[in-house]
Amino acid sequence: MDTNKIPWLMLPLFLLCFSLESHVSFGADTISFNQSLSGDGTIVSASEVFELGFFRPGNSSNYYIGMWYKQASQPNTVWVANREKPVRDINSSVLKIVDGNLVLFDESELPIWSTNISSTNSTSVEAVLLDDGNLVLRQGPNSSTILWQSFDHPADTWLPGMKLSFDKRTNQSRSITSWKSQDDPAPGLFSIQIDPSQTDQIIFLWNRSQRYWFSGTWDEQTKSFTLLPELRTLYLYNISYRHVSNENESYFTYSFDNSFAISRSSIDASGQFKAMLMLTNSGEWSLFFSQPRQQCDVYGYCGAFSNCNEKSRQFCNCLTEFQPASQKEWDQQLYTGGCVRQAKLKCGNDSVNGREDQFLESRMTTFPTNPRTVTADSIKECKSTCLNNCSCTAYAYDESIGCSIWTGDLLNMKQVGEDDAKGKSTLHIRIAEFSNPKNKKGPIIVAVAVSVSAGVALLGVMMFIIIRRQRKTISSTKAAQSSVMAYGYKDLQKATKNFSERLGRGGFGSVFKGTLPDGSLIAVKKLEGINQGEKQFRTEVSIVGAINHVNLIRLRGFCSEGSRKLLVYDYMPNGSLDKHLFNAKGSGKLDWKTRYQIALGAARGLAYLHDKCRDSIIHCDIKPENILLDVDFCPKLADFGLAKLIGRDFSRVLTTIRGTLGYLAPEWISGVAITPKADVYSYGMMLFEIVSGKRNFQNSNDGSTFFPTWAAQQVTEGGNVLSLLDNRLNGNVDLEELYRICTVACWCIQDEEIHRPSMSQIVQILEGVVEVTLPPIPRFLLIDTTLSLCSESQSTL
Ligand SMILES: *[C@@H]1O[C@H](CO)[C@@H](O)[C@H](O)[C@H]1NC(C)=O
Ligand SMILES: *[C@@H]1O[C@H](CO)[C@@H](O)[C@H](O)[C@H]1NC(C)=O
Ligand SMILES: *[C@@H]1O[C@H](CO)[C@@H](O)[C@H](O)[C@H]1NC(C)=O
Ligand SMILES: *[C@@H]1O[C@H](CO)[C@@H](O)[C@H](O)[C@H]1NC(C)=O
Ligand SMILES: *[C@@H]1O[C@H](CO)[C@@H](O)[C@H](O)[C@H]1NC(C)=O
Ligand SMILES: *[C@@H]1O[C@H](CO)[C@@H](O)[C@H](O)[C@H]1NC(C)=O
Ligand SMILES: *[C@@H]1O[C@H](CO)[C@@H](O)[C@H](O)[C@H]1NC(C)=O
Ligand SMILES: *[C@@H]1O[C@H](CO)[C@@H](O)[C@H](O)[C@H]1NC(C)=O
Ligand SMILES: *[C@@H]1O[C@H](CO)[C@@H](O)[C@H](O)[C@H]1NC(C)=O
Ligand SMILES: *[C@@H]1O[C@H](CO)[C@@H](O)[C@H](O)[C@H]1NC(C)=O
Ligand SMILES: *[C@@H]1O[C@H](CO)[C@@H](O)[C@H](O)[C@H]1NC(C)=O
Ligand SMILES: *[C@@H]1O[C@H](CO)[C@@H](O)[C@H](O)[C@H]1NC(C)=O
Repeated sequence: MDTNKIPWLMLPLFLLCFSLESHVSFGADTISFNQSLSGDGTIVSASEVFELGFFRPGNSSNYYIGMWYKQASQPNTVWVANREKPVRDINSSVLKIVDGNLVLFDESELPIWSTNISSTNSTSVEAVLLDDGNLVLRQGPNSSTILWQSFDHPADTWLPGMKLSFDKRTNQSRSITSWKSQDDPAPGLFSIQIDPSQTDQIIFLWNRSQRYWFSGTWDEQTKSFTLLPELRTLYLYNISYRHVSNENESYFTYSFDNSFAISRSSIDASGQFKAMLMLTNSGEWSLFFSQPRQQCDVYGYCGAFSNCNEKSRQFCNCLTEFQPASQKEWDQQLYTGGCVRQAKLKCGNDSVNGREDQFLESRMTTFPTNPRTVTADSIKECKSTCLNNCSCTAYAYDESIGCSIWTGDLLNMKQVGEDDAKGKSTLHIRIAEFSNPKNKKGPIIVAVAVSVSAGVALLGVMMFIIIRRQRKTISSTKAAQSSVMAYGYKDLQKATKNFSERLGRGGFGSVFKGTLPDGSLIAVKKLEGINQGEKQFRTEVSIVGAINHVNLIRLRGFCSEGSRKLLVYDYMPNGSLDKHLFNAKGSGKLDWKTRYQIALGAARGLAYLHDKCRDSIIHCDIKPENILLDVDFCPKLADFGLAKLIGRDFSRVLTTIRGTLGYLAPEWISGVAITPKADVYSYGMMLFEIVSGKRNFQNSNDGSTFFPTWAAQQVTEGGNVLSLLDNRLNGNVDLEELYRICTVACWCIQDEEIHRPSMSQIVQILEGVVEVTLPPIPRFLLIDTTLSLCSESQSTL
């Protein structure tokens, strides 16, 4: 009898009469000798945190043994056993203990994966799934002898308690390796490990050799890395990192002691390391930390002969005269395979002698990595050096640097804007020939072009008619209740030139620039993750649309066609505050007076949302990216009210916020109810950035101090407040205003929300109507032991 085919529901009965090899019983956390796991059976850790069994990733038809958080929805796989050897039929594949090992047999009964320890050949060996996500093979029930554990064989995920280690005896680093793609857990190109040459830092590698990110060395005093001071704030959420070094090994590990949430960190198939939190009742992950911050900074992300541009809808685009190596992967947004030539080079091909390769000028890209400098006195000589060597793929000539050439694949090129391209020398990329219409295919192309454009014109006329008809129905029926216009999707598609110019990406979706037929500029936000019904959506939109304040961005209209939900706003010519604050060049216009007005305006907008609306509206995502500036640098809050659109359940709102933890108030993570004071906290963090002109996390004065800590010290101890000021302002500041704004910021970031002022109080303080007293230093800022404390004056505002 084939026991594998027996559904687990029948098991209890079955066990009574027959027990040769049984399935793991429902809810068990252990696979013991003579038991097996098959089909959709799983084992679950004792407190039901993790589950292990067969799973099928994404659209793949393959199955793997994997482990996942039980409460979170897929995909949340934290470990995969048989990464490279999938099974097809889970009903006839089994995972069981054989000769002291946990072994996976595929449908042909071949062992395809094993814990592979030298056999102890003991019938007491068992595999247990523990509550920390460690699958452990041990000598027997209650035995402390661990024979094998999945923590020593990580996949792409670093769980709390897992060691990222370097074995000093073998000089081997244990690495965490990305999946190949969302559908394929086989080891991909990107990995994380300890730097073997400097074992107190973490590095990211491409293809196990090329490093593209490093953490900076560990600082035992602040318990963070020199290039990642923001790790220190994670203390607030009971996440703490630890470094241990002894004669055998050096390792990093972290703990996450939070009863309301779970956490995971992993390196994804696109090469970014992402740390996530999930409130246990929300079922969805929220990203709180990712490195490298820019996707285009991941080495080889776009593959060879391809340009990276985060502003385009598709991040990677092949160079002219090149095409994706695999269109299928490209369509799945997997770009690492890169691009290939449409036409083979002529160089080295005797049958085409007498004809030379050409060079394509590419001015709007950064140079690829790994250039070689060769001696050449002119651009002509540089070109001929490249032309004469068949492995040369590109050259660039610059008066001061001289001649640079590249051989082989061109990697890591980034698209740059017109401004950045100015004054930069041009990259010349070798191609076989230009596929322009000036060849013998000319007439055909022209003919095709004519017929195509005729078709397009016809289509255009038809669409025009359709749109006209649609617009008529819309304007006659729907725009009635409020001042908010309803737009057709096609109108917005046209206005935004098919969503081609992306202005930015926020928590709720991407924003695109557009022009309405009347010439007015708009910003169109494509919402993601809105599951509301039509009627409810329209109701919420009309509520948000009715909110009118000079410091809040105006909602002009919306589009709701099935799952397509878009919002239309006024376009703000000066973009968002972050561009002016953090851009090295762009601070010129933001003098102190402007900054103060921006801080005050943002406070007024928030106070209006909190106090003056019928239902108090919590913004939930205050940060410089969401402060837009009109032509006169008057600030306008963006993205308010969207939390309402998502739903009233705030834990779900959190999951859509893609900011760094830096702006998030502690109560977001602690699980208590969110009040408008959460916005006050984020606002305070932002004030520091307005003063310093730098991100709090990137602005460490002496390389180790977290900026708000230092600022709080200056404020509360009567230190030099002027030293907090952005040095690009050259000290041109109203000292009293500076003092006031810094003091308010300190009050805003108090741990206890009751100690934080309300937004209306903040407006009064900034207006100078109310005096402000000295605040205590927030708890989390005290982790710096070198910091002397301020008086715990619990004075009220
Ligand atoms: C395990 O299976 C063997 C036969 O394969 C059987 O003799 C033995 O009794 C079983 N042991 C247990 C504990 O069920
Ligand atoms: C699965 O395939 C469908 C259709 O081919 C596609 O729309 C969807 O995005 C795919 N999902 C994933 C996770 O790749
Ligand atoms: C496994 O068996 C179950 C019923 O026993 C069936 O519903 C399922 O489709 C089978 N799965 C596969 C992959 O054959
Ligand atoms: C088990 O380990 C041995 C060496 O330790 C290796 O040769 C063998 O390929 C491994 N088998 C599997 C299935 O991993
Ligand atoms: C394990 O031990 C049993 C007897 O105890 C023996 O029959 C079997 O061959 C052994 N297996 C291995 C792999 O040594
Ligand atoms: C394992 O420990 C538990 C409790 O500590 C005990 O009840 C159980 O009998 C032990 N099992 C064995 C096989 O020793
Ligand atoms: C590990 O590296 C150190 C220093 O680079 C060297 O002294 C030592 O011999 C190496 N050990 C092994 C096992 O390779
Ligand atoms: C990765 O490195 C190996 C050699 O270590 C090489 O064969 C392979 O082509 C590299 N992969 C890519 C995508 O360059
Ligand atoms: C290092 O390894 C040796 C041999 O395995 C062991 O005796 C010793 O306790 C280990 N040291 C530490 C600090 O774990
Ligand atoms: C953080 O840890 C402390 C002490 O371990 C504990 O009292 C507190 O409840 C934890 N916080 C959360 C949010 O779980
Ligand atoms: C050389 O050129 C000829 C004619 O263009 C072409 O058919 C052939 O494939 C080329 N050979 C190589 C090695 O590129
Ligand atoms: C062409 O460049 C490659 C790579 O730099 C070099 O190894 C080779 O010697 C060069 N060939 C000639 C003919 O100069």
